[in-house]
Amino acid sequence: MKLFKKIIFVLFAIFLVIQFIPVNRQNPQDPNTFNAPPEVKVIFERSCFDCHTAQTEWPWYSFVAPISWLVARDVSEGRKELRLDLWGSYSDADKKNIIRHCIKEIEEGKMPMPIYTLIHTDADITPDQLALIKKWHVSLGKSSVSPESTDNIRSESRHKEHENEEKH
Ligand code: HEC
Repeated sequence: MKLFKKIIFVLFAIFLVIQFIPVNRQNPQDPNTFNAPPEVKVIFERSCFDCHTAQTEWPWYSFVAPISWLVARDVSEGRKELRLDLWGSYSDADKKNIIRHCIKEIEEGKMPMPIYTLIHTDADITPDQLALIKKWHVSLGKSSVSPESTDNIRSESRHKEHENEEKH
């Protein structure tokens, strides 16, 4: 029993000491430019923002070592892979690519990370939510000029030129 008490004491001492190891829980001050339609934005906000933006909400256990190390590592690696809050700075092609990638990760059950949904039980993406993301993905880049529409513009201007010629 004496040995048992000693072990508990040593473990507790280690637990106290590791609390003093610094953990990077910084949120860079970049403004969030993720301007998806509201019904899509809430999904990403709830399920992805904690690891893929600078607007991480650090839960209480992210202040308790050694769990804090795991949380900080996931956030830092998640931010390295993808920063949804820097959305405004990406090109249309990149945006489309990013969301295609996100859909793939969600479909494969990799994102949001299972360890995250274990605690954030409302973060799991439902089939309805996935359908909304897919619909948005299809609409992305539609407003920019596609090869088809340039053809239309060209034939229209050709048509105008022709009209002008006729007037002369
Ligand atoms: C708990 C933190 C966490 C959450 C929540 C999270 N991610 Fe991730 N994400 C990561 C980490 C860590 C990586 C890099 C390592 C990896 O790919 O597993 C990553 C990588 C990715 C990648 C790149 C994958 C690759 O291999 O190229 C995409 C895309 C992604 N996440 C999308 C999402 C989406 C979409 C959501 C929300 C539905 C989400 N993530 C939620 C932590 C998270």
